[in-house]
Amino acid sequence: MSKSADALAELFVAAKAAQARAYAPYSEFRVGAALRTPEGDVFSGGNVENAAYPEGWCAETSAIAAMAAAGGRKIAEICVVGEGEGLCTPCGGCRQRIREFADKRTIVHVAGPDGVRASFRLAALLPESFGPGHLAAAPRPRQPTAR
Ligand code: THU
Repeated sequence: MSKSADALAELFVAAKAAQARAYAPYSEFRVGAALRTPEGDVFSGGNVENAAYPEGWCAETSAIAAMAAAGGRKIAEICVVGEGEGLCTPCGGCRQRIREFADKRTIVHVAGPDGVRASFRLAALLPESFGPGHLAAAPRPRQPTAR
């Protein structure tokens, strides 16, 4: 296997392990995500649901939180594993969360239990996106404006 295929296989295995630990008693749709940083560290997480339904969060969010808590600030590659026949592509909110720590060319792999089914550049999932650069480019007053 090539180096990049090995690296993807490692991400898939980590995402599947996180999926097995997902807490999804309400939807019964378990998702796992695993990401690699440019430094080579892998972080993973599963979806965590809540009896107050809207308060649950996605697997991608868990993996990103684990990375940020460890000091990671960049996603080089991410793999999401869902259940069923469909493509478990990240939800809109998670696309934006991935975008915060990635760039247009970052690859998002979407997998089922048996392996990777499709791979997308982030730009294809979230075209013309808003990001940190927009805030940096906006002129802002140094002091809050007095009213
Ligand atoms: N979910 C994820 O964790 N990631 C996705 O990419 C899509 C959806 C979760 C949220 C919820 O816990 C369950 O899947 C059903 O929507």
